[in-house]
Amino acid sequence: ELSPIERAKFAAARRAVDFVQDGMRVGLGTGSTAAWMVRCLGERVRQEGLRITGVPTSTRTGELARQVGLSVVTLEQAGWLDLTIDGADEFDVDLTLIKGGGGALLQEKIVATASDQMIVITDAMKEVAVLGAFPLPVEVIGFGWKATRTLIEELLTTMDVMGSDISLRMAGDIPFRTDEGNLILDLALGRIGNPRQLAPLLNQIPGVVENGLFIDICDKVVIGHADGAVETRD
Ligand code: A5P
Repeated sequence: ELSPIERAKFAAARRAVDFVQDGMRVGLGTGSTAAWMVRCLGERVRQEGLRITGVPTSTRTGELARQVGLSVVTLEQAGWLDLTIDGADEFDVDLTLIKGGGGALLQEKIVATASDQMIVITDAMKEVAVLGAFPLPVEVIGFGWKATRTLIEELLTTMDVMGSDISLRMAGDIPFRTDEGNLILDLALGRIGNPRQLAPLLNQIPGVVENGLFIDICDKVVIGHADGAVETRD
């Protein structure tokens, strides 16, 4: 038996795979909601003989995709994608997202921006009026990461942000490493008043590889509810 939240995630994922058509090259997101989407896509491939090529955004997703019988290639092999379906940690009315709770934001952003279309799948709890209650993940190079953190702190003090609590993401006792071997700093900002201003300034700091704000990338959000109902925003 699925919990209400898992039912909501499943409902969104199930609806989103209806947008996948025969022959498409599809970006496969990362996280628990995206995992439902990968399983649903595997089912469509088995039942309908759909021919699709999947490009995973993490090793985790790649493993699951192969398990459910999807044909998996790298983004280099695929070149360009028709559609990416991924989860998110927060979204607002402009369909601006915070992503990276699972640590895959870099590959997720590369894959999403190399796609004609990005659909986000989510439960209703992730809709916010103002982004930032979820800590903003920022992927940084390991070399000199404390200096990078200091520069981020300095940037935040010049901006309209409530707190600037920055923590190094851990995996148990050791720092979490992304698929690219980098570190993640989680920025507890509380409120991100101007994501359009913040995102490029973060990426301008040496040592920052990418940040978890997805701006003008998402085309549609499919929102699932525990009773199986689904709504879409675009
Ligand atoms: C992975 O890095 C994230 O961007 C995920 O998309 C996000 O954390 C959503 O995960 P869930 O679907 O598990 O909430």
